[in-house]
This record gives sequence, C-alpha cells and structure tokens, in this order.
Amino acid sequence: MKHFLAIADLSPAEFNSLLSTAKKLKAEWRKRGNKPILKNKTLGMVFQKPSLRTRVSFDMAMLHLGGQALYLSPNEIGLGQRESIADVARVLARYVQGVMARVFAHAHVVELAQYSSVPVINGLSDHEHPCQALADVLTIIEHRGKLKGLKVVFLGDGNNVARSLMFACALGGAHFVCAAPQGYGLDEASIAQAQTFCKKSGGSVEQIHDPQAAARDADVLYTDVWASMGQEAEAAARAKIFPPFQINAALVALAKPKCVVLHCLPAHRGSEITDEVMDGPHSVVFDQAENRMHAQKAVVALLMAGKQTKAKK
Ligand code: CP
Ligand code: NVA
Repeated sequence: MKHFLAIADLSPAEFNSLLSTAKKLKAEWRKRGNKPILKNKTLGMVFQKPSLRTRVSFDMAMLHLGGQALYLSPNEIGLGQRESIADVARVLARYVQGVMARVFAHAHVVELAQYSSVPVINGLSDHEHPCQALADVLTIIEHRGKLKGLKVVFLGDGNNVARSLMFACALGGAHFVCAAPQGYGLDEASIAQAQTFCKKSGGSVEQIHDPQAAARDADVLYTDVWASMGQEAEAAARAKIFPPFQINAALVALAKPKCVVLHCLPAHRGSEITDEVMDGPHSVVFDQAENRMHAQKAVVALLMAGKQTKAKK
C-alpha cells in the first residue's frame, strides 16, 4: 500500500491489516501509550474544507506516535489555483513524509498521489471518506463483535461516507443496504464494484428507497447530513425530500434490539437524526468519533513508519 485514497482500492488483506493494526494501536495507547514509531516524521494536512474530527484526530494520532502534523488551511495552498496540484505534491514531498488531503473532487487527491513521492491519504473527497469507514467498521466490531453477516443500513444521501461504508461492508462480508430517496442513491458503477467484492467475502449490497423496509432487523443504522460540504445551495430542496429517511425512535424500533446507531458527524440534529436517538442507548457516535484517531494511526503507521521517504529527484 503506497497511498490510502479509497476503500475501493484495498485488497481484503490490506483492509484486515488496517483494522487489526488499529485495534492493536488502540489497546497499546490505552495501556501504556504508543511507541514513537513516527519520530521525526511530519504529516502535512491540506484542507480545502472545514473539519473538526479529521484535523484533530490526525494531529493527535501523529503526536501519540512520536511525530507531528502540520495543518494547512483552505486559505493557504490554493490547490490547483495558486499552484498546480502536481507542483504542490512535488514541493510538499521535499518537506514532509506524508500528506493528508481533504478535497472537493476525488480526482484532485488522485492527482496529488500521482505526483507525490510520499504517501497521500484521502481525508475526504466527493467520492470517498475512507478514514471514516475504517473507524466505522472498528466501532461496529467493538460493539457487535464482528462485521461479517451483519445487516448494515445507511439511510439518506448516497454520498462519500455511504460509498466508503458500502465498500468496507462488501470487503468485510456484511449485508449492506442503502436506503436513499429516488435520484439520491449510490451510483450503479460503485454498487457493481462492491458486488464483485461480495463474491469473495460472502456479503451483499442492495439499494432501495423504502426506509422502513431497510431498517427492519438491522444490526447497524447509519446516517449522514443530507447536503454535504459543497452542496449548500441544494440544502433547502433536499430538506423537503429527505425527512422520511430520518433516524428517529420509530425507525430504530424496527431494527434489532441490539442495533447500534452511527453517524460520521457533524450531525444536523432534528434533520437526519433526532436528539432522542443521537443521545439514546443505541447511539455509539462518540466512540465512533474517537475511533477516527485509532483508525488513522493504523493508516499513518502502515504508510509512514520505517519507510525511506526521501523525495525523488
Ligand atoms: N466525520 C468527519 O470527517 O468530521 P470532520 O468533517 O469534522 O472532519
Ligand atoms: N458527507 C459529508 C461528510 C462530512 C464528514 C460531507 O462530505 O460534507
């Protein structure tokens, strides 16, 4: 693994190795703290959009592993505007040993990786949010003991978070259902690709438009905002279409009694999820937020530790 751009790019072995490393590093951190395996290593963090979890959890992950993170705000680099993406990649690689980028177009993080001689990590693009999905699976396994065979239901917009979760479920042998309004589901190409993963894992992937049917007997209910960053102009129109897909007490009642509720956060309480559910006994959203840090430690450890990271001339 040279970069970490998408869950769809992972082999089952890479996916499992990331998860087991995350578990190991979390247990180690809880016991006596992590070993400084990233001493003298810096992760450059390029943000084109705002962030709480991604920024702070990467920062702390690097710190715990003996390295450091450098935050570059949306106002600084001007990725592809002030300077070409290729040149940003070439320059950053002379200073830092890894790059995390949160971008609008997925093609931009792919281009960064193409020209970067150091590992590039996708910290969210319009297509995938792979760090989120790793934390999601870690959280599901912690609370339900496994991923394989579980019914994992995503309700709402077929977005970056839904797509990465679908690929993770497909790799891990879960039964994934996306319940989205007509016209807002996951694209057919991604679904078809996830279904090829299911052939090996024994999982399944399905997209429907009935939130109640989706929630019935679910082990995991998951939602995200109805309008993602960059879709602010559509928010009002979407707010009229999406309410039947809200996770509320009535929907949770259709799921299994031990069902866990996840949300990548930030949440719009009262829209895609009610306060009652978010603060209720099924919700594991803050464990999930913590797990971003543990999952990302695995990513930086596997990509950046013990590697020759000198820039190519
Ligand atoms: N879930 C997530 O990525 O949160 P941030 O946008 O705050 O980083
Ligand atoms: N789908 C959301 C996730 C935020 C973490 C977005 O892209 O804005």
